[in-house]
Amino acid sequence: MEKIKIAFFDTKPYDKKSFTAVNEDFGYEIKYFKNHLNPDTVSLAKNYDFVCAFVNDDLSGEVIMSLAEYNIGMVAMRCAGYNNVDLKTAYQNIHITRVPAYSPYAVAEHTVALMLSLNRKTHKAYYRIRDNNFTINGFLGFDMHGKTAGVIGTGKIGRLLIDILNGFGMKVLAYDTYPNKELEKSAKAVYVTLDKLYAESDIISLNCPLNSKTYHIINDDAIAKMKDTVMIINTGRGPLIDTKALIKGLKTRKIGSAGLDVYEEENDYFFEDFSQEVITDDILARLITFNNVLITSHQAFFTQEALLNIATTTLNNIRDFREGKALVNEVCYKCDDNCRKLKGGRCF
Ligand code: NAI
Repeated sequence: MEKIKIAFFDTKPYDKKSFTAVNEDFGYEIKYFKNHLNPDTVSLAKNYDFVCAFVNDDLSGEVIMSLAEYNIGMVAMRCAGYNNVDLKTAYQNIHITRVPAYSPYAVAEHTVALMLSLNRKTHKAYYRIRDNNFTINGFLGFDMHGKTAGVIGTGKIGRLLIDILNGFGMKVLAYDTYPNKELEKSAKAVYVTLDKLYAESDIISLNCPLNSKTYHIINDDAIAKMKDTVMIINTGRGPLIDTKALIKGLKTRKIGSAGLDVYEEENDYFFEDFSQEVITDDILARLITFNNVLITSHQAFFTQEALLNIATTTLNNIRDFREGKALVNEVCYKCDDNCRKLKGGRCF
């Protein structure tokens, strides 16, 4: 019997390692392409049965329609977010699945790592000590205990983050368009309006998805409503923050510090080695110059447990499609409470 063939885009060594190991139980033929998926590279997917793509692949309408022409039945996203997929074009042309939760712990924990590093400057202490400089000037932090954190988005990651922040003895204010009922009843956090969250939080964390309502949710207006020297952490998606407004806030010292695991225009840079190149993105270059900004390259998800879950769920999604089963991890632009998927079917 001919093997099922998967065209795997934007491959990194760790992807290949985890997928190759998990694929031993599935037996698919996986071709690992280093290229990003985009209109120039989509033809590589010809003669394959499935495409596997990641956060910075381009799944615009043009690419989707090419994949549909090549009779690709499904794109298996190996990530949670799908803001890079033109779902409207995909509807009734190609199924899209994702990995809704691979390790919310990984992202919540990385969010806290950014907070602690920015507060206590451990990333700077490391370099100072290597230089035999044992001074502590400039490393003055604050007790997180007793401070107020504002969490925007109380889904899987946001709720775990709240648990950790509770452990520090922080007061937590939360905002979500769909408040979680259990959280609402608990003493862990108080749901408030965005304005109140901005006005009272010492640290603000973005844990909501990127969509038309959350695009640039942190902009000039929002920043103006925040406490002076607020810390902003974004492990959600880059475009949640208007980066120009963030830079303005950092320059005026309104924003005390920022921890960014994601960046608006990250596609060209994140996950790649530019150590021998010139950064031509002036906004990213400016962000990097701030001594109170800590950028990580979309690594919040990156734990052993997450990689194993990503590979297992992605290949399971492909198997479910092959076997005609319901696609529990399908996404489409029409998904709502009456979704056929929820009734054990497929979006279309
Ligand atoms: P989730 O779907 O469990 O929770 C998202 C929450 O955001 C939901 O409660 C939803 O109601 C809320 N939300 C939606 N629109 C909102 C709005 N306009 N304002 C406030 N809240 C809103 O998702 P999960 O797993 O907690 O992930 C959150 C986001 O984290 C993902 O969408 C993804 O963009 C990002 N992420 C980042 C990773 C990284 O490596 N940096 C890895 C995984 C996810």
